[in-house]
Amino acid sequence: MAPRPLRLTSRRFSLKPLLIALLILVPICMIVIFNHSQKISYFFRPLWDNPPPPFKRLPHFYAENVSMEHLCKLHGWSIRLQPRRVFDSIIFSNELDILEIRWRELSPYVTKFVILESNTTFTGIPKPLFFSSNRARFAFTEGKIVHGVFPGRIASPGSHENPFVLEAEQRRAMNGLLFYAGISDEDLLIMSDTDEIPSPHTVKLLQWCDGVPPILHLELRQYMYSFEFPVDYSSWRATIHIYNPGTLYRHSRQTDLIFSDAGWHCSFCYRHLQEFVFKLTAYSHADRVRRREFLNYYRIQKLICRGDDLFDMLPEEYTFRELIKKMGPIPHSGSAVHLPAYLIENADKFRFSKEAGMSKEKDNGFTDPSLASQS
Ligand SMILES: *[C@@H]1O[C@H](CO)[C@@H](O)[C@H](O)[C@H]1NC(C)=O
Ligand SMILES: *[C@@H]1O[C@H](CO)[C@@H](O)[C@H](O)[C@H]1NC(C)=O
Repeated sequence: MAPRPLRLTSRRFSLKPLLIALLILVPICMIVIFNHSQKISYFFRPLWDNPPPPFKRLPHFYAENVSMEHLCKLHGWSIRLQPRRVFDSIIFSNELDILEIRWRELSPYVTKFVILESNTTFTGIPKPLFFSSNRARFAFTEGKIVHGVFPGRIASPGSHENPFVLEAEQRRAMNGLLFYAGISDEDLLIMSDTDEIPSPHTVKLLQWCDGVPPILHLELRQYMYSFEFPVDYSSWRATIHIYNPGTLYRHSRQTDLIFSDAGWHCSFCYRHLQEFVFKLTAYSHADRVRRREFLNYYRIQKLICRGDDLFDMLPEEYTFRELIKKMGPIPHSGSAVHLPAYLIENADKFRFSKEAGMSKEKDNGFTDPSLASQS
């Protein structure tokens, strides 16, 4: 068979349609990229970012009615004659309901609740001292409270106060407050945000056993908006320390060890929509509020009822498999098992935090702003 002749002269082809198509497509692409740059970059995170170094998981044994001596032994530790004193330290913003659940849970084991609050937000906006003005609500543990006020700075208009700087200053102030509260060597110190709650049996175990590592991260079950929306076990920032003079208050990676299934982290678990808006403008990631409509009550209500993302962001994941699995709303859970006991005992009072959708609809403060202050 003779080779087919090569055709060098192709059909005449005009560049014009191509140019017109480009003229239309390029601006569209630019608009899409401009509006969704965050989504696009998060979607490709598995290509441009590496996950943090993995933690070494410390197994965690617990069941009701198993003796403390046996539990200590299962972890390779031994039982103490006396429990350690426990200091629980938090920097408080406006999470009054979560604070009450936290302190009711931990009160039987804690020696001092050390709480620092500031009269400005991390973003430099003046704020009320929410704890001070609601202190009566915490009378059940008044004798254990050590409260400090951090004088904040107001960001001058136009300037951009770096929220992480104010946050770091407050963490430093906490070291002084802990000293004032009387912490000493060998005490157990919990460092976490208000909404990162170690389970009571975890605290009890660590206070009763000898041989516990000096620093442990806590792997907490992550919830979003309410205990109705369990996300995963990705929360790791909370730590428990055996205090020594070099211990510094931090909320970042401090060791490779993490204690499995050690409590709950309920993010954005608020009763009123005003509290969401406050949090959105106050917290260190306030830059995520990229559009004015993000603070719209109706939009927030709709998203939290569906378990959707408030910032219209994609999940922060490092593999495409995890990313795609987590896209879209968080599925509702029908379980209210292994939640804080005080929450279950007072399920009606904390209805919003188990059924975000239902009660915020009734109780959303659309028309009555005074709802924000009574809780
Ligand atoms: C469980 O608790 C009950 C009542 O306190 C006690 O009688 C029983 O011996 C306990 N069981 C175990 C396995 O420890
Ligand atoms: C915060 O408190 C400090 C110290 O009491 C005070 O000097 C400052 O003016 C206060 N700032 C605001 C915004 O209230």
